[in-house]
Amino acid sequence: MDWGMKNRLSQLIKSDGHCFFLPIDHGYFLGPTRSLERPGETVKPLLPYCDALFLTRGVLRSCIDPTDSLPIILRVSGGTSIVGKDLSYEAITTSVREAIRLNVAAVGVSIFIGSEYEHETLLNLANLVNECEEYGIPVMGVTAVGKELEKRDARYLALCCRIVAELGAKVVKTYWCEDFEKVTNGCPVPVVIAGGPKCETELEVFEFVYDGMQRGAIGVNLGRNVWQNDHPVAMARALRTIIHENAIPKEANELFNSLKDDEK
Ligand code: 5RP
Repeated sequence: MDWGMKNRLSQLIKSDGHCFFLPIDHGYFLGPTRSLERPGETVKPLLPYCDALFLTRGVLRSCIDPTDSLPIILRVSGGTSIVGKDLSYEAITTSVREAIRLNVAAVGVSIFIGSEYEHETLLNLANLVNECEEYGIPVMGVTAVGKELEKRDARYLALCCRIVAELGAKVVKTYWCEDFEKVTNGCPVPVVIAGGPKCETELEVFEFVYDGMQRGAIGVNLGRNVWQNDHPVAMARALRTIIHENAIPKEANELFNSLKDDEK
């Protein structure tokens, strides 16, 4: 592997082989999502506990201090909104030249398998990989389901992740599901787990993250279940113990409960 590609990946995936990405890209189609109205303020206390930020260039340039940042995964697909006709109708919105100018560690693009624009979004990924390989920039493929959250089962997600890997993504982001090993076993590149809408309890989050990692995921790309929690720092710190310190869900939950009262 090229030196630059290896160097960028090692910024994202730590020496234990695990990672904790914090996504704050939701506004690119959802607008000012709850708790992310001021993204810079939301992430500031979380930076010490995460390994990378996933966000658009607009939020990066306007809200993140370039002298005090984590490695960046730049979201480069978009062009749709939650009130528009079809969330799958995405295109590439940010050039590789801009990604290089912003000194990012990777770029991220969504693909929508089974949607009307499956072909277009897969070509977005493939063309992006072609260009990024020229410059040693890893591509993270995001298996998006739009509004159809019920699609998230092992058969469908295994299909999506394998296709994303076949087209050359270096990392795949997908949802956790039952029998998650069916997803990771068929995917030759590292898989990270996205959270989806906020869960009822913290323990539920710790359990699916732990289960996903036991079944082959290398870490998470978890947003709303961190920064929409009433105690986001406690949540990030507790999750970190599962991701990087082999904690089990019960231990993470105990840590969360002991830390949450310290947080306003
Ligand atoms: C939004 C994304 C998010 O990065 C992804 O969904 C993870 O965030 P969350 O854990 O809040 O679901 O790609 O399009």
